[in-house]
Amino acid sequence: MDQSHLPSLCEAYRDYFYIGAAVNEKTIRTHDELIRGQFNSITAENSMKFESLQPAEGVYDFTLGDELVRYAGERGLRMRGHTMVWHNQTPDWVYKKDGAPASRALLLARMEEHIKTVAEHFTNPYAWDVVNEAVDDREGGYLRSSEWHDLIGDDFIEKAFLFAGKYVKNGAKLFYNDYNESVPDKCRKICRLVRELKETAPIGGLGLQGHYNPYTMPMDEVKRSMEAYAELGVTIHITELDVPAFDRENNTLMGEPTAEMRRIQEEYYEQLFALYRDYREVIECVTLWGVADDATWLSTWPVSGRENEPLLFDRAHQPKPALERILRF
Ligand code: GLA
Repeated sequence: MDQSHLPSLCEAYRDYFYIGAAVNEKTIRTHDELIRGQFNSITAENSMKFESLQPAEGVYDFTLGDELVRYAGERGLRMRGHTMVWHNQTPDWVYKKDGAPASRALLLARMEEHIKTVAEHFTNPYAWDVVNEAVDDREGGYLRSSEWHDLIGDDFIEKAFLFAGKYVKNGAKLFYNDYNESVPDKCRKICRLVRELKETAPIGGLGLQGHYNPYTMPMDEVKRSMEAYAELGVTIHITELDVPAFDRENNTLMGEPTAEMRRIQEEYYEQLFALYRDYREVIECVTLWGVADDATWLSTWPVSGRENEPLLFDRAHQPKPALERILRF
């Protein structure tokens, strides 16, 4: 389908921030026209995660990651690197030695080796998500229990940033990235973590995933959290934005979103982008977690087969009313 008549989202926001999309080896083909017309930054949806890059110890597979790097190069797109240290999509061997839990020293050595190899291989990203989702969602907790955390200790995050600082050579900013970032208690903990890291490690950015639930996350809280993050003195990226049409907490509703649901989603998008524009001094990039509604993780989560239609282009790759709203400013 010819999309050349569409106004370009990234052009419209040229004076504000980069507009990114998560892509994969399929969507760079099926959604190429939208990607190159509408976006100027990409993130690998999966192919730069630990399990994709180093499925077995010392066995690296850069094939899919390289394909995206090549694509970004051909299309003149910037690229975010995602993600070096995370508790998901990391193979089990990483945490084990002869069937028993790895020691702190061994896990740190593996972390360093992985970060070094990946940073030396992929030299194009302008930003790297060094650590993903280390903060606890539960009130009262601080850092989440995970193998990285429990086997190394609280300083696993600092270590990851120190390794990334040592091996990332092209000046890319190093990010901490997390979700539920507008929940007040979690926001406080993320701010605490960033402040602590700034004392000892080369953190340059904070990634706010932006997987919002418009039914449970009041815009006032989103605003308050942005105010707090803007004071941290690091660059902000919105890294995984999507706004589902359905309430994530209500898994009984199925079928097509109603007109009312679509209206709520559109207003939410409009308010979000107005907020992001207000914070243009600190926000460098806003990345959507996908290109169009026919390829999104929210078709299988939280319930399979429910089309949440969370993006700005529909399943036929046509612009949605939400897009029109955020282009009007
Ligand atoms: C997290 C990760 C992303 C992606 C999403 C959902 O937010 O950071 O890479 O896996 O979950 O798919």
